[in-house]
Amino acid sequence: MSKLELSIEVEVLSFEELPEEKQLLIIKAQEAAMQSYSPYSGFSVGAALRLDNGEVIAANNQENAVFPAGLCAERVTLFYAKAKYPNVGIKSMAIAARNSEGFTSRPVTPCGSCRQVMMEMTHRQAMPIELLLYGRDKVYIVPDATSLLPLQFDQDSMQ
Ligand code: THU
Repeated sequence: MSKLELSIEVEVLSFEELPEEKQLLIIKAQEAAMQSYSPYSGFSVGAALRLDNGEVIAANNQENAVFPAGLCAERVTLFYAKAKYPNVGIKSMAIAARNSEGFTSRPVTPCGSCRQVMMEMTHRQAMPIELLLYGRDKVYIVPDATSLLPLQFDQDSMQ
């Protein structure tokens, strides 16, 4: 028997320690969270991504009385970016979330389905997507979103 050890790289910083460019992207994600439509969960999530052409695209989670019809902030933002700019790479994406008490103290981490979408988009663009996961107490920087989905299933898995 052999063992496979999987590890991921996450930098942990305070918001104040971040360079201005990253702070600004997080602020865009926070602003987007404020506009979220999330009356069922009361959990408002915003995402803001920076494209290779310099443009920033921000959006938020959209819920529905038929629960599965809603969509996470990350996928709303990623799909919109790719619908508008199919051939422009995504460099970085910030995510911030708030509940009834304000922005979460812990960094918000994307769900499995969003990780799967980020993974395929990364493979399409052959360039990593950096994640900035905001929390009031600390911010996680994940240099490559695909690292959040070890042993992933992708097109190659069907070969
Ligand atoms: N949600 C996101 O938008 N992103 C995440 O990373 C986690 C969860 C949304 C989905 C749903 O609208 C609400 O937060 C509660 O799960």
